[in-house]
Amino acid sequence: MIIDVQPNRQAATHAAARFIAHQLRIKPDSVLGLATGRTMEPVYAQLVELYRSSQLDFSRCRTFNLDEYVGLGANDRNSYRHYMDHHLFFKVNVDSKRTHVPDGLARDLDAECAKYEQLIQQSGGIDLQLLGIGNNGHIGFNEPGSTFDSRTCVKKLSLTTRQQNASHFADSGKMPDRAITTGIGTIMESRQCLLLATGADKAAIIAEALEGRLTTMVPATVLRSHPACTCIIDASAASQLRFPDGSRVSRAA
Ligand code: GLP
Repeated sequence: MIIDVQPNRQAATHAAARFIAHQLRIKPDSVLGLATGRTMEPVYAQLVELYRSSQLDFSRCRTFNLDEYVGLGANDRNSYRHYMDHHLFFKVNVDSKRTHVPDGLARDLDAECAKYEQLIQQSGGIDLQLLGIGNNGHIGFNEPGSTFDSRTCVKKLSLTTRQQNASHFADSGKMPDRAITTGIGTIMESRQCLLLATGADKAAIIAEALEGRLTTMVPATVLRSHPACTCIIDASAASQLRFPDGSRVSRAA
């Protein structure tokens, strides 16, 4: 794993956007795995800026989002489809038919999961998977205890996740308690992963994820065994690492 510590949130999010832009420039038909959450908002804003200022071309790429709340559709402002449409897809030249987010309104959720998994395979697999991290170490919505070989499935959200994400909902009681998420096995098959974390509230979990014991109870620890994972963090998120020495680059697993 390469760990890139940037001085602040802006530098970290710009570095992540440049990483994604580089992938699109070297392979315009890349299959991108995308993530949601507050951390990613400035990354998408920066990609939109690169599209406007440097003609960054999204027309040939295909995207797969990590997850979606069960019960929320595109018109619900808390759905991840809505998030993606408004933060990125409506603002760049991506073909909407090539953007995929699990269907949280599917009648048969298991069939939707199997279909999503199959579609990723049929598209040739994910070239670059962008990942945030939950306060409990989840990636996607793979909560603590998820097996490292899991595939796209429905997950019950943990109390920690519900507390972390409830603030996005005007009425926190309306937050779904389940989500569809691509599995850890699915994520680990991506050719490259990019984990981004910013802010002091991520410092404890980043220390556990990068330096703690490899365990399914902290799902993000699995990324240390990925052959090509880069972790970009700002100084605040790096503040509880045992070796917070500036732009450290470590290839240790
Ligand atoms: C949600 C998403 C995760 C994301 C996490 C981080 O739980 N399912 O994929 O990593 O949010 O959120 P934030 O960036 O808001 O801290």
